Formats: sequence, structure tokens, C-alpha cells
Amino acid sequence: MAVRESVEIDLNRVDHLIQEQEAELEPRHTASIEYRKAAERHVAGGVASSWQAAPPHAIFIDRGDGSRIWDIDGNEYIDYHLGYGAMVVGHAHPAIVEAIRRQASRGTHFAQPTRDLDVIGENLADRFSLPLWRFCNSGTEATLEAARLMRARTGRDLLIKIEGTYHGHHDSLMFSVIPDPELMGPREHPVTVPQAPGIPQAFADLVRVVPFNDLAAARQAFEEHPGEVAGMIVEPAMMNCGVVLPEPGYLQGLADLCHEFGAYLAFDEVKTGATLAYGGAVEAFGVVPDIVCLAKAIGGGTPCGAIGATEELFALVVGGEYDMAGTFNGNPLTMAATRATLTQVLTRDAYPALDSLHGLLVERLSAVIERYRLPAYVTGLGAKGSVIYSPTPVREYRDALAIDERITYLAWLFQQNGGVFKSPWSKQETWTLSVAHSDGDVQRYVDNLETFARAVTT
Ligand SMILES: Cc1ncc(COP(=O)(O)O)c(C=O)c1O
Repeated sequence: MAVRESVEIDLNRVDHLIQEQEAELEPRHTASIEYRKAAERHVAGGVASSWQAAPPHAIFIDRGDGSRIWDIDGNEYIDYHLGYGAMVVGHAHPAIVEAIRRQASRGTHFAQPTRDLDVIGENLADRFSLPLWRFCNSGTEATLEAARLMRARTGRDLLIKIEGTYHGHHDSLMFSVIPDPELMGPREHPVTVPQAPGIPQAFADLVRVVPFNDLAAARQAFEEHPGEVAGMIVEPAMMNCGVVLPEPGYLQGLADLCHEFGAYLAFDEVKTGATLAYGGAVEAFGVVPDIVCLAKAIGGGTPCGAIGATEELFALVVGGEYDMAGTFNGNPLTMAATRATLTQVLTRDAYPALDSLHGLLVERLSAVIERYRLPAYVTGLGAKGSVIYSPTPVREYRDALAIDERITYLAWLFQQNGGVFKSPWSKQETWTLSVAHSDGDVQRYVDNLETFARAVTT
């Protein structure tokens, strides 16, 4: 990424454009706004999950097909949100529909294993170079098990995590996800900030937070707690402030560091797994950790999570000392969809096409940024990417704090009004591509960025 001269964006102009764009958006969503009001009578906040209520208002979806979705007002969008990156197979892919239909007609739940297990386990072992797997229902469950397994195996309580990353909503790791700058403390010694009310301080005391892409800071954390650290969990490419790629040597350095101190390294590949590459970050960056956590894209739109680890780590589970259990773990519908996803849709052959679409998007977006001299750059890998509204590279969470959220919000509004559905905005401008996206779909994204660029610079 070349850092070059850029224009300064006038924030008064941005405020004015936000008002204009919101006024254009709202009348398109009258059915969504009305439906939410009705739902609010008996559903807290009128939505199923808090982030579905991201400003300016919740948008209720009617259906999806391939790269497109339609909301209940009848608006059509090209979907780059893709259910937080879960739908890399595209919506209603015939192979997934058929797998679910077939299994539904044979029974949807037994809480007993079914005959999809070994195929899925073998496929994941091939992709992520870890021999043993278990299944669960979400990314939250996968990282919860990773945290507990590292603690169980070492007999130690302390975990290290990266400042500015999200690993799900359980109490072991929901710290310093988007920490308030007033509370986060100095960079040399970040404070472990609970991300929600109700998380006990006693749990925060069991987690050390360090900046991404800084091996020396990670070493310092280990050295300050000799013999106390069970393991470290890292999102191998950070996805919460745009896509932030690991610097060369960083991930291998973490693996070596963890092992030097008798601890384990877990990759949270909930977003990167089967999206950055066939074998996720493990393949893309050539580093095999002790644990890989998966969810989202592997399930083809069903609630699948998975945890892979070494035989040594899984010995407690295999030996029956550690119950890794759940009523819906390995649910037959989920397993059928996951099997079809991994063996029929997101096969090795799918990735060159995703890579070339990614390349096209990066090239065309970069050309717009260059033409309008926006203080921004484009980054990503495989199915994942983002425009980062910073003139200098973001290497860690604190670098992203300089990004003015009004700019990312305005960029989001232009995409939404231009028929591109994106995940909630904040500081991130992340997109996900599916196997159903086309060159034309890419162009719509680029055209919307150009409309935004023209509006903010003239
Ligand atoms: C990196 C990462 N880990 C874990 C999770 C939690 O996954 P889930 O929402 O399926 O519980 C997420 C969700 O966005 C995530 O991005």
C-alpha cells in the first residue's frame, strides 16, 4: 500500500451529507421501521440481536438469492454483509438447499452423531492442518471451548488477547473489544476493559490485553506473568477495524513465544476460516497454531461452529475428563449444510475466482481513491476486504481510533442508498464476497464509492 498525498475531508460537509443521505434512506424503509415498532411490543428492542439495531434503523430482510437480498420494503441490494461473512456460498445455493431439504425430510435433530461427521472432520483437518475436531453452534462457543481447553490443559488461568478484537459474547474473552479511549490505559500496558455491564472484574483479572502486530509487547506480557499464562488467542487477521493483516513473522513469532512459555496459541478463524483462503489464515500465512476456532462461512448459513486442535490438547476430551458438549452440537441439519459447503461449494477450486474478484475490487476501488485523493486505502485477502479511511496504515486498534466514524458512516449510507448492503459501519468498512458475486456486482460497489468520493471532495 502506497501512502500518498491526500485531501482533507471537510467534516462539516460530511455532517451535511449524512443528513441528506439519511433523508434519502428513511423513506425506503417504512415497512422495516413500522415492523420493528410492532415487534417491540414483545421482542426487546424489536430485533433478535443487538447489532441488528445498528443506526440509522434496523432493516428487515425478506429473502436472498445468490449475491442479492431483498428487504421487506422490496428494495434489492447486492449483499456484501453476507450475514457477517457467513454466506460465502451465496444465498440459497442449490447444493445447500438440497442438503438441508434432504436432511429435513429425514429428521432434524437427534442429539446423536450422524454420518456426516468423518467427512467434515477430514476436510477441516486437511484445510487447517490440525488432526482433531469437535462441533458447536457459533463462534462464541468455539472460542469459549478454546479458552477453557487451554486453561484445562495447562492448569493455569491467565489468557492473553489482542486489544480491539472480538471473540464472541462469553465472559472469558469479552474484554477490550472496542475499549473506550478514556478507559483503555497506556499502550505499553493496556487495561483489560469489560465490554459489557455484568462481566465481573474477577474475570477481567484473568485476561491480559496486548496490541496486535507487536511481538515485543506480547513477550513482555508473558515475562510479567511467568508460569501463569495458559494461552493466547488471536484473530490472525484483525477484522474489527477494517481488515488488518499480520506483519510477516508476527504469527509464527506468537506461536514460538507461547511454546517458549509453556502456553498454547489459538487462532480465532471465525471470520478468516474458509474465507481468506481454502485453509483460512493457516494456509494464507503458513502458521499452524495449537487450536483453530471456526464458525460463520463453514456452515453455509446454518449455525455451525467448530474447534480443531492437536491430539495433546484433545486428550482430555477424548479421555472423558473434559466434557465438550451441547444439545445441538453436530445437529444433522447443520452438519448436512456444512458438509455440502465444504465439499461441494467452498472447494479448493472456488478460491481462485474469489481471489480474482477480490483483485478486481481492490484495483478499481484503489483507482477511485487515487483519483479523488481520498485519505484511505484498500486492504484484504480472498473473500474479505475493506476500505480503511486512514491516510496511514492501520496496524492495530489504537491506529484506527484516529478514523472519524462520521466518514465511515457516510460511506456506508452511500453504499446502502446505492443498493449495496453492508455490515454495520462504525470504524470498519469490511466486505465479504461470495461465490455468487460477479464483475457487475463489484462495479456497483465501486460506483457507489465514486459517488461518495465526488460528494465529499467537491
Ligand atoms: C473473530 C470472531 N470470533 C468470534 C465471533 C463470535 O461468533 P458468533 O457471533 O457466531 O458467536 C465473531 C463474531 O462476529 C468474530 O468475528
